Formats: sequence, structure tokens, C-alpha cells
Amino acid sequence: MSQEIVKIFDTTLRDGEQSPGASMNTEEKIQIAKQLERLGVDIIEAGFAAASPGDFDAIKRIAEVVHDSTVCSLARALERDIKAAGEAIADAPKKRIHTFIATSPIHMEYKLKMKPDEVIRRAVEAVRYARTFVEDVEFSCEDAGRSDIAFLKEITDAVIEAGATTINLPDTVGYRLPQEIGAMVKEMVDFVGSRAIISVHNHNDLGLAVANSLEAVRQGARQVECTINGLGERAGNAALEEIVMAIKVRQDIFQGIDTAINTQEIYPTSRLIAGITGIEPQPNKAIVGKNAFAHESGIHQDGVLKHKETYEIIRPETIGLDLSDTLVLGKHSGRAAFKDKLGKLGFTLDKEAFERAFERFKILADRKKEIFDDDIRALVTNEMAQATRIFELISLQLMDCSEGVPSAAVKIKKGEEILLDASIGDGTIDAVFKAIDRLTGYKGELQDYRVKSVSEGKDALANVTVKVAFENEPAVIGHGLHLDTMVASARAYIAALNSYLSMQGKLKTRPRHVIL
Ligand code: KIV
Ligand code: ZN
Repeated sequence: MSQEIVKIFDTTLRDGEQSPGASMNTEEKIQIAKQLERLGVDIIEAGFAAASPGDFDAIKRIAEVVHDSTVCSLARALERDIKAAGEAIADAPKKRIHTFIATSPIHMEYKLKMKPDEVIRRAVEAVRYARTFVEDVEFSCEDAGRSDIAFLKEITDAVIEAGATTINLPDTVGYRLPQEIGAMVKEMVDFVGSRAIISVHNHNDLGLAVANSLEAVRQGARQVECTINGLGERAGNAALEEIVMAIKVRQDIFQGIDTAINTQEIYPTSRLIAGITGIEPQPNKAIVGKNAFAHESGIHQDGVLKHKETYEIIRPETIGLDLSDTLVLGKHSGRAAFKDKLGKLGFTLDKEAFERAFERFKILADRKKEIFDDDIRALVTNEMAQATRIFELISLQLMDCSEGVPSAAVKIKKGEEILLDASIGDGTIDAVFKAIDRLTGYKGELQDYRVKSVSEGKDALANVTVKVAFENEPAVIGHGLHLDTMVASARAYIAALNSYLSMQGKLKTRPRHVIL
């Protein structure tokens, strides 16, 4: 029997990037887009082209390399936004513009300060203009969850007439319960018929984003907007991996319905996103959390050993999780083996990036006995995170960490110049960061510091993530990786500064939240 496909619209690179601390550089976004294509998502929302020159550029580059998935840019219902979106995606073989305007009474009155008629007029103009760039136009009724159904129908009629092919009904503030979303979707599906696809986009403020999306599918929605690991504004968006696996596992409920997702790419995609953003899914997160397949109690272990289905509804290999966390490479591994491994983990690096990653792998292999997939992932994503290398750490020397005054001597490279300075501090990390401030001339305010071991064992790599605000500008994120936590910390701090310097001028103008 042929299955009806629910389109998976991934917005990790747009709504997901609106998670605090999840901004990504262009190279990282390209790697993610390629992996999303491998995962089989139907539509990749690559960003919001009008937000900044950096966003525009990233979407344009993604449009050049992604061939199988549709590449989409978000645009407010404004001519300049739609123009930027149309130009950014121009080179994609399959392209879509996603334009939106708020439709709830509270948004129209207080945010837009517009009458409903004006909102409809703007929506129609936006869709018409978007159709001059592409045939595939999605229109979103922002805050549909709190909009009047009669108004939703009126605006939907008008934008379909103007050329919209998908109507998205976001529960922007994550307020609705499954039966309410289901009722709204059913009424809109019946109303629209075959004139357009009804889509949903659920936020997770009450922890119901996935449940709401699944009920919407049951009631006829044929596109679901979601993100990897459930990243997104505030409490996040509906998690792609949970929706896809629920539809797959519960075919008794979702009879005749499927997605085009290659589920074996779910786990590698989740790891790639966690590595790049530094945001780990909670350990007990469904499908991709560290404990999702860990059977702790003796009774469960005994059951699983006797017959897996006693306690397992999904086989780890179905989502591409290899529980043996294979010991992959050692210090005798050469370029070919390293390249082969990178391919299996979903990375395609250009020659220069490959050589740098290989060099770092060799240094690591000399010092660390066992190298796991997670080590390689961390190493490569860390390499990609270095947007620019204006400053580079050469060495770090620490003095007295217990009784006396903590102090650090730091040597860094700026172009051909080698700079050396030292500082004391309230603690060792404070001393290291102050020494870097003195050397670079930029004073940073540390807002967050996290350290995580990449794999297990005493010789595990330390992955440090810092959030730093330089010159009273919005904070930026930096990641650093090393066997020594202090060196990883210094690298993370310098990476944050490099990222700040590469984005200078763009930070101020970039709206973190989509506003009209
Ligand atoms: O949550 C929301 O309403 C959105 C729209 C822009 C689709 O992200
Ligand atoms: Zn959203």
C-alpha cells in the first residue's frame, strides 16, 4: 500500500538558531544543511535572509550545495525581506519563500498596531510578491494558536488566491493542548481541501509541542515544522526525531502515513547539532538523550537480554546509534582511514580544513590511548567553529592554583606577531582570561562557562563552552577542546573573541527575535 508522506520542514537553522547561545557560523550551517539533506528532510529553512548579511550569505551558500531538499528562507511580510529571501535562495534547484504576519487579536493590536483588513492586505501583497521569485510559497499565520478561526479562514482564502501553496498554523507561544490543535487543524484542512497543504509549527512552552504536532498529523496536517533536539525560541520547537519516530513506531495509529526521513541519520544529526551549538540534549531526552537506550535496573537488563522488545520499543540501530561507541582510530591511522571515518560521521571538509583536522587528530592520538567517534566529532566541529583565527593560542603556563595568588602566563599569535603577557586573577580561569584581555586589548565579560568531557575515562577530552560579552555588545559563544581543561578554556575564550571580531558591526543590527 502506498503511504501518504508528511513533509518534514526542518527549522533548526532558523528557529533553532534563535535558542539562546545557539548561533552558528556559515561553515557550521553548511555542514548542518548537508547533514539535514542526508537525513532526508523535505524542506530546510536555512535562515532569515534579511536579518543580517551573515544570514543572507549562509542561505546563499546552502542554496548552492543542497540539491535534494527544498531550501527555504523566512521573510516578514515586507518587500525588502521577500526580496532578500528570493535572492538568497535563487540558486537552489528547489526553493521556497516562507512569509508570515501575525493574525491573533493580541498581536495585531499591540505588536502590529494594524486592523485585520490591513493585515490581510499586507499578507496578500507579500505572497504575490514572493510568487514573482518562486512557485513554492508558504504563508504563516503567526500566533495562529490564539487567532480566531473565522479570521484564519479569511486570510487563508486570500493568500491561497494570491498564490500560497502551504498554510502554516503556528502555536507561536506553545499555549494549546493536543485536542485544541487537532480541532483547529481539522477545521482548516476541511476548509482548504486540496487547494494548499496545512502545516503546523508548535512551540514547547507547556512541553506539548510533539504531542500537538502528532495530533495535527492525525487530523490531516501534511507538513510539520520541527528542529533537531527540539532547539528553538524559549522552550524550543517540536523535536524532529520524536515526531518521526512516533509516526514510525506507531503505524497502528498512523496507518497509511509516513515520512521520507532516513532514520539511521537521526543520531548522527543530533550529535552534529549538539557539537556545533554546545547545547546537549538532556540525558533523559526521548530518542537522542544519553540515557534513552540505557537500561539501568537489573530487571530491565535481564529482560532485554532475554528478548529485546521486553523493554525496548526502538532498536538503537534504527536511529543510527552504535552502542559499542566504536574505538575508531589510533595513532597509526593515516589520512585515508581518517577521511573514511569523517565520511561515515557525515563530515565533508575542504582540503585545508581536512589537513587541519588531521593534524589535530594526530596530536590527539599521540596523547590519548583510545579515540572514539565522539572525539572525532568534537574535534571536527570544534575546528569548524573557528570562524576566523585572528588570535591563536600558542601556550599557557599556570602558577599556583592552591595557596598563593593564581596567575597565568599566556602566549598567543596574531598574524606573524607573537605576544606574551601574564596576569593574576581571583582564580585560575580568571587569571587566564585576564591575561588574554591584556594581550588582545579586548576586555570580555564572562557570562557563562561550561565544561563537558567528550568521551569517558581520565584521559577524556575537555570541551569548554564560554559565553562572553566584549565591549558591551551582545554576548558571543566560543568552544575550546583539549585534553587539558585550562588550555580548552583559553581556546574557548579566544574563539569567542575571534567570533566577536568576525561579526563586528553585524551583531548590533541583527534581531534575535523576529519582530515587525
Ligand atoms: O513561532 C512562530 O510563529 C514562527 C513563525 C515565524 C513561523 O517561528
Ligand atoms: Zn517559531
